[in-house]
Amino acid sequence: MSRLSSHPRLLRWLRPASLLAALALVSAPAFAQHEIDSEAERGPISLHMNENAFGYSQMAQMAIMQKLQGGNRYARQEAVDLQNALAAREDVPANYIIQTDGSGPVLLMTAMAFAAPDKNVVTVTPGYKQLTDAFAQQGGEIKTVPLNDTYAIDLPAMKDAIDENTAVVYICNPNNPTGTMAKPVELTQFILGAPKDVLIFVDEAYLDLAPGGVEKNSMVKLVKQRKNLIVSRTFSKAWGLAGLRVGYGIAQPETLEKLKPYYMGGPSILSTVAATAALQDKDFYNYSIESYNHVREMMKQRFDAMGLEYAEPNGSFIFVHTGVPIEELQPRMAEEQILIGRPFPPMMDWARISISTEEDMEVFFEVFERVMKDYGKVAA
Ligand SMILES: Cc1ncc(COP(=O)(O)O)c(C=O)c1O
Repeated sequence: MSRLSSHPRLLRWLRPASLLAALALVSAPAFAQHEIDSEAERGPISLHMNENAFGYSQMAQMAIMQKLQGGNRYARQEAVDLQNALAAREDVPANYIIQTDGSGPVLLMTAMAFAAPDKNVVTVTPGYKQLTDAFAQQGGEIKTVPLNDTYAIDLPAMKDAIDENTAVVYICNPNNPTGTMAKPVELTQFILGAPKDVLIFVDEAYLDLAPGGVEKNSMVKLVKQRKNLIVSRTFSKAWGLAGLRVGYGIAQPETLEKLKPYYMGGPSILSTVAATAALQDKDFYNYSIESYNHVREMMKQRFDAMGLEYAEPNGSFIFVHTGVPIEELQPRMAEEQILIGRPFPPMMDWARISISTEEDMEVFFEVFERVMKDYGKVAA
């Protein structure tokens, strides 16, 4: 049967309303955001990628379903709607925003636009390396600054590290993998006091989850004052859209122009409508943040009870000093179906544990306490 002759029959079957109704039936269980399947039932528990285990907005899921049949089109008005919604949220003009597939591309475009063999990027160690590694791949140099004694970004040392060849300063706030925060007043002073020709990049992937959230801590408010400043945000963490891939950069249009030659396209039409709908779903956003706060406190208490040190967590993970080389602990936990964070040199006997549901964390602690006893790191 030819495609054309089958077409009318398909159409009879797949009238939009009946398709949506069928989809709603099939997808109903996935809609229960409070009843996420335990990762344990589906395979290993994922505590290694800082994904949101609390699900994502039902309004976003509905928006995807309603747009499903529009997948043959590029995102046009949908992209404009998201752009306007983001501009309103960030309180900047719409041309200050660049939409990307997750925030990673903003980091990569920045590396490609600003790296050169005689240039350096200043960053902390341990830190998130997507931008800095790409900068080095373009022939640039990475200048790393150790964290301070609270495992937070040492802003005075970062300032001292800037030299005449510095093209970019990369700051991840809260820092990945430590989760520690720079104080907003100090970070503001640092940014405004940095040499005007140096690009400051502030990665706020986890900021929604920090006490005071983006309202109290975001550096977006400086973007109108400072041309050489890019702030990146993502829907992958607090909003739970990691698999849908939506992120964005915020900067003055002249700065965004420098990134555009390296642009590889924005989010899909389905991801775009999901993000726009998610922005309206304050209930899910608050639920997500409260869930993180709740489980983070529970985890801190458990680590305290074990006598383990951890860096003050403000994101979707906790960096804990296990005293066991991570290259041993990671496979040992994986044998027990628990995936934990990768090594973050030079803190090689620390482990980054993503915050997941309370049920997942119960399983984690049962295994982790046993393993730590085996290593003689906590009392048997
Ligand atoms: C600090 C930081 N920035 C950026 C990203 C990129 O994530 P995405 O592309 O999903 O926004 C991640 C991912 O985990 C991250 O930890």
